[in-house]
Amino acid sequence: MPRPFALALLLSACPSAPAEPPPAETGAEVAFDLDNPESCAACHGAIHAEWQGSMHAQAHHDKDPIYHALRSFRMERQGEGIGPKCASCHHPRETEALESDLAKQGVSCATCHNLDQVKREEGVQGAEALVWGEPGVVRGPHGADGSAAPHGIGEAAPWLTDGVTLCLACHAAAENPKGVATCTTGAEYADAKDAASCTSCHMPEVEGPSGSASTRESHRSHAFLGPHSLWDGGNRAFMGSALEIEGELKGTQARLTLINKTSHGFPSGFPGRVAIIQAVGMDDEGNVHWSNFSKDPMAEDPQSVLNKVYVDDEGKPILPPFATKLARDHRLKPDERRELSWTDLPEQVQTLKVSVRFHLIPPPAVELLKLQDSPLAHPRPMKSARIDRTEP
Ligand code: HEC
Ligand code: HEC
Ligand code: HEC
Ligand code: HEC
Ligand code: HEC
Repeated sequence: MPRPFALALLLSACPSAPAEPPPAETGAEVAFDLDNPESCAACHGAIHAEWQGSMHAQAHHDKDPIYHALRSFRMERQGEGIGPKCASCHHPRETEALESDLAKQGVSCATCHNLDQVKREEGVQGAEALVWGEPGVVRGPHGADGSAAPHGIGEAAPWLTDGVTLCLACHAAAENPKGVATCTTGAEYADAKDAASCTSCHMPEVEGPSGSASTRESHRSHAFLGPHSLWDGGNRAFMGSALEIEGELKGTQARLTLINKTSHGFPSGFPGRVAIIQAVGMDDEGNVHWSNFSKDPMAEDPQSVLNKVYVDDEGKPILPPFATKLARDHRLKPDERRELSWTDLPEQVQTLKVSVRFHLIPPPAVELLKLQDSPLAHPRPMKSARIDRTEP
């Protein structure tokens, strides 16, 4: 019986998912339509529930407050013509009727599964890179027997099974109208040594069939975890896996080594992401004697801020879409081991408590984008570590 099983998975996979459960769980039948993810739920329940909690399902401006804010901000200044350009990656199945139900499906099942080819040429991305397949036919990783399915099933698709090609159709690169690079995940990935595939980290194999139609005991998760997992569901494990932290406290000196465990930069992707490393020195009773910054990390201890800063012609910080230059890129490079060090710590300090906070958008952009009231505008902790004194 698929239904109770799918519901249990839905609840465990996305505790903060929208209040209305998908129709398959309420008993309403949804007619099969390749472009309606709800109509996949009856047979691919686990995958549907995972996808629904993912940012791919929230990629339309009605569902993602940060995207909505930046899109509106740009349309006010750069004209309505911006909309279809964004749609090319945020909902490539519909790039004209931007408010239609189809557009609102975001990066839908059909976006990734109704394909006959994925072009990988420089500058060709989103809708331009995706060559749609025959109506009503899906291609997945298996080339399964489709006789029991309401859709046709084509040959196994290499752009899915290599775990990279399809992802880079939208995640490789972006630049602003002045030609300044904003997103560089593809180039970062190309620089990583012995890189695993995107899907090995972002679509890990999870136990349980992908739904009632599956002939397998496990499947690749469609939750597409990333930074938003700190807000949606409060899961720190995935983000914590981005970094390894080592350290040493000796005399009046402290040192931390940050090791990038992703196969791209950290933070990668959207240029506004910021990770801040706070270190607090305490004695054995837990009294605080030292901290690497108190209020403003960029002013007091810039080494602890992993971010990019974009500027205009006068060198003033500005949102990436309007910048003429990237003034600072202090993110970790792929495979990088970065040392942070501090001197003159008080001798009472016996332990260093380290916490890493993640911002989806940099604090100066919050007001500009009028996002003060959104929980997404406030940072979340993603990892912590404790370093004990090794030598007096
Ligand atoms: C080439 C494909 C592509 C195009 C075109 C594109 N985006 Fe995106 N966008 C992405 C991807 C992929 C992400 C996810 C983060 C990443 O990898 O950069 C993203 C994420 C974002 C985010 C962060 C959302 C969040 O919740 O944190 C914003 C804001 C955004 N895009 C705005 C826009 C706007 C505005 C446009 C149109 C002017 C646009 N994007 C066009 C691919 C694209
Ligand atoms: C961003 C792209 C993307 C989206 C969106 C997406 N998929 Fe997938 N899907 C994949 C990839 C990649 C694989 C293959 C992973 C592997 O096995 O290497 C896959 C595998 C599958 C499989 C095979 C499962 C099995 O048992 O092995 C099914 C079924 C499937 N997807 C259905 C769906 C449905 C239904 C949706 C929408 C609710 C969806 N997918 C959305 C990329 C996507
Ligand atoms: C009535 C049941 C049913 C519905 C509804 C359904 N499918 Fe399927 N689907 C199947 C069956 C059966 C298979 C083969 C499963 C297997 O062999 O493990 C399959 C396989 C797949 C595969 C994997 C193909 C492969 O060989 O790798 C994808 C992708 C897929 N379906 C996508 C979708 C999408 C997208 C929807 C919704 C638009 C959908 N399906 C709706 C029954 C269904
Ligand atoms: C070794 C594991 C690993 C591999 C391989 C990997 N990633 Fe990531 N990725 C992560 C982790 C962990 C994070 C969270 C930290 C961060 O945001 O950089 C992340 C973050 C992201 C983000 C979020 C960016 C944003 O805007 O906040 C995107 C998009 C992404 N990865 C895409 C990819 C793509 C595309 C590939 C393949 C070209 C890939 N990743 C390969 C582990 C991996
Ligand atoms: C059709 C374009 C497209 C394809 C193909 C695509 N993505 Fe995305 N992806 C997006 C967009 C757009 C976003 C940002 C949505 C938003 O935040 O509004 C995104 C967001 C993400 C995120 C960030 C989640 C977070 O928490 O912020 C990850 C991770 C990710 N994608 C991984 C993948 C992987 C892995 C693949 C390949 C299997 C893939 N994507 C294929 C367009 C795409």
